[in-house]
Amino acid sequence: MSSDGVENESGQGRTIEKINVIGTGFIGLPLALQLAYSGKTVVGVDIDENLVKAINDQSLHLDEQDLQRLLESEEVEENLIAKTSPEEGDAFVISVPTPLTHPQKSPDLSAVEASIDSIIPHLSEGDIVNVESTIPPLTCDDFIVPKLSEAGFDPGVDVHLAHSPERILPGNVFKEIVHNDRVIGGITPESAREATKIYAPFLKGEVHHTDMLSAELCKLMENTYRDVNIALANEFALIGDELDKDMTDVIDLANKHPRVDILRPGIGVGGHCLPIDPWFLNEVDPEHTNLITTARRINDMMPQVVTRKIRHALRDYDDPKLLVLGAAYKPDTQDARESPAREIVEELRQDGYDIAQYDRFIDGMGYDDLGVLIDEIEPVLILQLVDHTETTKELERLKNELVAGEIDVLPIARGNPLLPTDE
Ligand SMILES: NC(=O)c1ccc[n+]([C@@H]2O[C@H](COP(=O)([O-])OP(=O)(O)OC[C@H]3O[C@@H](n4cnc5c(N)ncnc54)[C@H](O)[C@@H]3O)[C@@H](O)[C@H]2O)c1
Repeated sequence: MSSDGVENESGQGRTIEKINVIGTGFIGLPLALQLAYSGKTVVGVDIDENLVKAINDQSLHLDEQDLQRLLESEEVEENLIAKTSPEEGDAFVISVPTPLTHPQKSPDLSAVEASIDSIIPHLSEGDIVNVESTIPPLTCDDFIVPKLSEAGFDPGVDVHLAHSPERILPGNVFKEIVHNDRVIGGITPESAREATKIYAPFLKGEVHHTDMLSAELCKLMENTYRDVNIALANEFALIGDELDKDMTDVIDLANKHPRVDILRPGIGVGGHCLPIDPWFLNEVDPEHTNLITTARRINDMMPQVVTRKIRHALRDYDDPKLLVLGAAYKPDTQDARESPAREIVEELRQDGYDIAQYDRFIDGMGYDDLGVLIDEIEPVLILQLVDHTETTKELERLKNELVAGEIDVLPIARGNPLLPTDE
């Protein structure tokens, strides 16, 4: 493996002027914006016609102000066009979803396959195909290379092929897309170098060149590492629950050890990465993924456990009207996929509780002023399920009014969600 600075655009080989970004969701759109803002000609390709229209008329609402600023910039207006199918270009970046099938939990690569099919008619010699989507080990070698070969290309010889998994954190995308280190695995070292040119206009992080399988594994191992460590913290909290002991302080004490860094327990794990990617490793080696799949199951179970704690707390109220704050899968993002907060609310609604759920970041669930919202809804109890920074500040600002109005707050999202809920 080699570590490089970002290659100069005027380095060897072809200059990259026009880039198709296939899939303009959470991952593809920020890349398309950065590239267009840097002066590249960008075609943002998406099968979602509403999204294509919203990008073109700049009516999208993005949860990060800096990204919104890019979207509304003159450069982006001039250089980015969204379309439902690709065009000829120098590079094609694939950033489409790679979900799991249900209930088998096997990788569903249909969107990747459709993307490759859609770019093949527009590919020509020297072009770069760079996959950003998170993919199971050997997808590039066993799935993408054969597809390109069937279409008459010789990947690594007449077209370049690379896998550069994305690491950005929704909520902090603007910074991370520029500053995170980037791993780029090429079918050949030259393909890795060529793919690096796509990012050269804006990337400040280091680039690490490797092969495609290493890049695939690296991304999956990063997310699995996070998932397993979250599961460990959750399991500690479950043990504390059994012992009637808040583990928050104990975790803090344990973290005084110079080589220990236990994470915080939470209400579960959501999003499009952590609940999915560990299963891609299980798919290729079920025999050696016991720890990984057990961790997955622990994290999947957490919303149910937290719901039980909330039910317990609700026994003290007579037919309470509830205001739930938070529906995103984690703080400071508008992403609500696989959201534990949503799962908890569904469970409670099935119990028959009267619940209004709001989230300042999520379309259709937003509000302008929390004080006004509370006056309208008149809840008896507020459950904060997601610790959006601004929501926590709002609740803090309204503290006195809530006390005066005898409105209780259960700040589940802050601290240990398995705390005895009667305190
Ligand atoms: N969201 C994250 O935090 C994150 C982080 C790192 C990596 N990833 C990975 O990036 C990939 C994309 O994730 P995302 O969160 O951006 O998904 P997303 O659902 O937000 O966006 C994907 C977009 O692709 C479009 N699409 C689907 N099939 C298409 C096709 N054939 N042609 C063109 N467009 C198509 C969808 O309409 C959608 O707008 C996934 O593999 C994911 O695992 C996601």
